[in-house]
Order: sequence, then structure tokens, then C-alpha cells
Amino acid sequence: MAKIPTSRVDRLLSSMGYGSRSEMARLAKAGGITLDAADLLDVSKRIPVTPDLPTRMEIDGEALDPVAGMVILLNKPLGMTCSHKEGGALVYDILPARWRRRDPAISTIGRLDKQTTGLLLLTDDGDLLHRVISPKRHVKKTYRAKLARPLDGTEGDLFALGDLRLEGETKPLAPAELEVVSETEALLSVTEGRYHQVRRMFAATGNHVEELHRERLGGLSLPEGMAPGQWKLLSDEEIALIFQ
Ligand code: URA
Repeated sequence: MAKIPTSRVDRLLSSMGYGSRSEMARLAKAGGITLDAADLLDVSKRIPVTPDLPTRMEIDGEALDPVAGMVILLNKPLGMTCSHKEGGALVYDILPARWRRRDPAISTIGRLDKQTTGLLLLTDDGDLLHRVISPKRHVKKTYRAKLARPLDGTEGDLFALGDLRLEGETKPLAPAELEVVSETEALLSVTEGRYHQVRRMFAATGNHVEELHRERLGGLSLPEGMAPGQWKLLSDEEIALIFQ
């Protein structure tokens, strides 16, 4: 059985972005930290860090944030970026501010362009992140693309062949699946995550993607009715769907 990690309370809360260890000591003295409904006064106490801790611990009267190992599903809005390098509003700004101070840090699992919307995962679990983006896992990503010009009917075969080379690249793309929705709309499923891949695939056919939205990652779909900017934590069962 896996060993349950333990941590000093001050170190744990500080790593979760609540404040410095001395701030946590002051908060505890003021009665701001409870465990199992009793005041926790000594922040040097070691406690087991179990996933149920948020149901047992309160900080300033509010349930503790999720402990490390969380996976967040976000419906990424248009115009927000996944990378600090790009500038502009970041997807991280949507999450609670103290989560930016968490250690281990929360990162996006792969990226979506500024102008792409839809299913984006974020996690503080580095192993999971690598498993999802690893080319060996072939996790399928499904995008809905709205196109500037009508499809000409040859795109599906071209993408399925697995020998399409994107401009400036020598390695051919892995086979991808196209499902035509209408003359100017299609669902495209790819297993790689190359730079601007879907836009460049349609550009290679002489078309132009006007709107791009990610609907699925493996067997995990964006929940119906989830508005842009909304997010939720995934359960273990939902995380397992990614690899189905
Ligand atoms: N392909 C793109 O072109 N953009 C994305 O954001 C994702 C895949």
C-alpha cells in the first residue's frame, strides 16, 4: 500500500499559497485554522496529507483547497493565453489567486492558442501531465473547426494517410480522423500536439480555420452547458477517462 505523506501544517498551508509559515502561525493563534472542528493552534504539528483533508480542515471558516494531485478542467475562453510568454490575460487568472503561489505549481496540460476555446486541463501532478502529452500514449484530441471556405472532400483521406508534412517540418504527421459536419465545419481528431497543428493542417489544404474549439481529450468531453471561463475539479474516474 502507498505510504500516506505527512506534512507540518505551516509548511503544507504555505505550499498551498495561503501565506508564509509565520503568517500561518499567527492565523492559528487567532483561531483561524481548524481540524476536525477543533482549533489547531500548533502549526508545527505533522498531519497526514490525505485527499479528504478539505472536508476536515477549515481556514478562516472556509474548506481547505484541494491538496496536491488535483486536475482542473476549464472551458477556456477566447482571447486568454496558456503561456506567460505570450502576454495578455492568462488562463491561470481564472483560478483562485492563491493557487498561483502553490508548490508544486499548477500548469496547463498542453496548450491551446489564444484564439482557441474549449477543454483545457491544468494540474500540479507532473507525472500525469507527462502521461497525457506523451506521444506514446496517443491520447486523442478532438477539435471542432469552422472554416472560411467549403471543404473539397479530399481532406479526410489526406489527414488519414499519415504522410502530410506541415510547412517547415520534415516529420510527417500521424494519421488523423476527420468527420465532416457541414460544408464549412468539421471535427478533427489528432494524437499529436504540434504548434498550431489543426490550423496548419487546414492551411495545408488551402483553407483557413476561423473558429477552433476543443471538445474532447481521450474519452473525456467538455461537460454540456459549461460556460467559457467555468472550471471544475476532476474525480479519479473522470481522470481515467482521458486514457480510454
Ligand atoms: N491546433 C491549433 O491549431 N490550435 C490549438 O489551440 C490546438 C490545436
